[in-house]
Amino acid sequence: MPRRVVILGSTGSIGVQALDVVARSGGELELVALSAGSSWDTVVEQARERGINRIALADPDAAALAAEAWTEGEVLSGPDGLVALITESDCDVVLNAIVGSAGLLATVATLGEGIDLALANKESLVVGGELVGQLAEATGAAIIPVDSEHSALHQLIGAEKPGTVERLVLTASGGPFRGRTRSELTGVTVADALAHPTWAMGGKITIDSATLMNKGLEVIEAHHLFGTPYDRIEVVVHPQSIIHSLIGLCDGATLAHLGYPDMRVPISYALHYPERVDVPVAALDLPALGALTFEEPDLETFPCLRLAREAGLAGGTAPCTLNAANEVAVHAFLSGRLAFLGIAEVIEATLDQLEVRQLHSFESLTEADARARSVASLLVQERPAA
Ligand SMILES: NC(=O)c1ccc[n+]([C@@H]2O[C@H](COP(=O)([O-])OP(=O)(O)OC[C@H]3O[C@@H](n4cnc5c(N)ncnc54)[C@H](OP(=O)(O)O)[C@@H]3O)[C@@H](O)[C@H]2O)c1
Repeated sequence: MPRRVVILGSTGSIGVQALDVVARSGGELELVALSAGSSWDTVVEQARERGINRIALADPDAAALAAEAWTEGEVLSGPDGLVALITESDCDVVLNAIVGSAGLLATVATLGEGIDLALANKESLVVGGELVGQLAEATGAAIIPVDSEHSALHQLIGAEKPGTVERLVLTASGGPFRGRTRSELTGVTVADALAHPTWAMGGKITIDSATLMNKGLEVIEAHHLFGTPYDRIEVVVHPQSIIHSLIGLCDGATLAHLGYPDMRVPISYALHYPERVDVPVAALDLPALGALTFEEPDLETFPCLRLAREAGLAGGTAPCTLNAANEVAVHAFLSGRLAFLGIAEVIEATLDQLEVRQLHSFESLTEADARARSVASLLVQERPAA
């Protein structure tokens, strides 16, 4: 029986690569539904090409346009539509490749139904890690990470006995501004920040990589996925992006996961897990690579990594506040309303202004998210544009 797959965020960088993975699966994966935010024409075209008869669009106006243009299938709309797409598609696995905290609803709906989740949307775990983990445990649904570092860790840790893994090491490319000082980042443009040296990704995560917030979010993600205390999760800058993560074991051995940067590898792993299938990527040519290098992250120039670690340690609403402020600040930077260095400033000031509260429910996350967005938006207005 093929495994029935829903792809959320099918119009994005991960979504499009996931469609390729499904197409190459030789019938082992069967696509049953797709979703996007507002790119209705693209998602309709994807559905037509693949004979899908159900799609969802987060934006109701876009959903209305899709329904007008596409009468062969059903168009669901808004948050309720997204939940219905997940819960009524009789699927075996949902790939959540939505960007930002908008993906939390899909994570909760998937796990709440006991459906396995291939998770690219790291923001879900950053914002609601504790509650999301409890939900997965309660329903028995698996979370299989798609983030390349966490996919590597999932594979490395999965091969070891419990209690033997002493530390996790996440690698970071360092982004386009690696090696620069703070003063050299004054006036960098959106195009400069989007020029990632090793990975081709969506806009938001590319900016997160340039600020090192991406690695900060990944530290929190790793903490929740693997239950590892923060003081045992390290970050090392590795500009070649060949080693995706490492684990240190109790007997002194360190194991690493290597490969060329290609997201189809972790996407395929998550969708086929626990099986492995062929993915058309080149075999690693170590002599051609020559050398792999490593550096300490520069926390003075890139304070977002420190801010994320502090928010993770504080717990409660702090990671949600961090994430919301980051989304507001990155959006402002991408639209020319905030300088690059202003991103970290806005996040830090938002965290300073909002007290950390305990989390009891997903509703408290929604409130914390809204509070942080409102504070961060005001802070953006007070600061100079790019
Ligand atoms: N790209 C990578 O290589 C990579 C690697 C590791 C992890 N990730 C993670 O994977 C997630 C997706 O990243 P990406 O780079 O693929 O992003 P992306 O290219 O920006 O795509 C985002 C997708 O989410 C949809 N979307 C946007 N806002 C939405 C909303 N409010 N509700 C529902 N759907 C919405 C978009 O639809 P529209 O096209 O209609 O806007 C698009 O399909 C992120 O959490 C990212 O951190 C990405």
